[in-house]
Amino acid sequence: MRVLLTGGAGFIGSHLCDALLAQGDTPVILDNLSTGQLSNIAHIQNKVEIHQGDIRDVALVNKLTEQSDLVLHMAAALGVNTILEKTVESVSTNFTGSEVVLQASLKHNKRIIIASTSEIYGKNPNQPLKETDDRVVGAPQKIRWTYADAKALEEAIAHSLFLTEGLKVSTIRFFNTVGPRQTGRYGMVVPRFVQAATKNENITIYGDGTQSRVFCHVLDAIDAVLKITKDDKTIGEVFNVGGEGETTIQQLAEKIITNTNSQSKITFTSYSDAYPAGFEDMQRRVPDITKAKSALNWKPTRNLDQIISDVAVSFTQS
Ligand SMILES: NC(=O)c1ccc[n+]([C@@H]2O[C@H](COP(=O)([O-])OP(=O)(O)OC[C@H]3O[C@@H](n4cnc5c(N)ncnc54)[C@H](O)[C@@H]3O)[C@@H](O)[C@H]2O)c1
Repeated sequence: MRVLLTGGAGFIGSHLCDALLAQGDTPVILDNLSTGQLSNIAHIQNKVEIHQGDIRDVALVNKLTEQSDLVLHMAAALGVNTILEKTVESVSTNFTGSEVVLQASLKHNKRIIIASTSEIYGKNPNQPLKETDDRVVGAPQKIRWTYADAKALEEAIAHSLFLTEGLKVSTIRFFNTVGPRQTGRYGMVVPRFVQAATKNENITIYGDGTQSRVFCHVLDAIDAVLKITKDDKTIGEVFNVGGEGETTIQQLAEKIITNTNSQSKITFTSYSDAYPAGFEDMQRRVPDITKAKSALNWKPTRNLDQIISDVAVSFTQS
């Protein structure tokens, strides 16, 4: 099967490429290399088709979609730093670009899976979060929420095209997906901490460290994506895909120091010092993955120790 993979040079996209190749498919990558890197796919460059281009290029997206059997839409502008520093460009990619990919899939009658995010729940305090829960977001001037807003609109137009035109779309909301190849450059916490730990540098926690998250190994997330592609009952459905086991950011930093035998010390900095104006965080972000577990017969199998170990190995090898 030819699979169009937008964002295929990115973190999740490149792991998806590996998994598609392993099951005998041909990945066709469309990526503008804004946050993705050719080094993520260097090991498979002779086995995949790589198109360096933008998902807002309607003609290119239509051509690649027409030639493919399945579309996995992973391209997006993300990372807190990217969203705060390149806001307009990010909204344009995440909303306009996604509409181009969705319309092309509709036009050529292709099955499509789109990557959404736990961010769309915003700061809803009722945890764990299930698929039907409300969005609670801050004022538009709190720029961080533009990512959640654009992704929520992407989900909404996908659902509308499913209802009105029969678009064969499934939506995945990834929660804090981590693993090798994720870069800490755009504000992702696990690679940033592990990289500091492997160099025995200070690990800086933004805020007081009591905020908590649940991390999911990228290979577990990929398993869920592939299961969705193989099950037509998932068309028109939304799935939370995340890990199990809540951890505070301070516990995460301590675990990383212990597990990597690091000499690093933990320091703290306030959000107002760490981020430009317009940042707002949520205290907890816990996925309810009951639906994915029962509908897909899937569950995450790798814990936080395994995640830290795999990320640490990847940094010491690079
Ligand atoms: N990693 C996570 O924890 C997480 C959580 C929630 C949702 N997601 C979603 O999963 C998807 C993949 O994220 P990731 O973590 O692999 O991030 P990533 O930044 O590594 O991958 C995104 C890819 O999209 C490419 N891209 C960006 N703008 C583009 C454009 N206009 N045209 C073509 N390509 C473009 C980037 O170069 C990059 O390769 C995204 O849709 C993201 O919103 C990820």
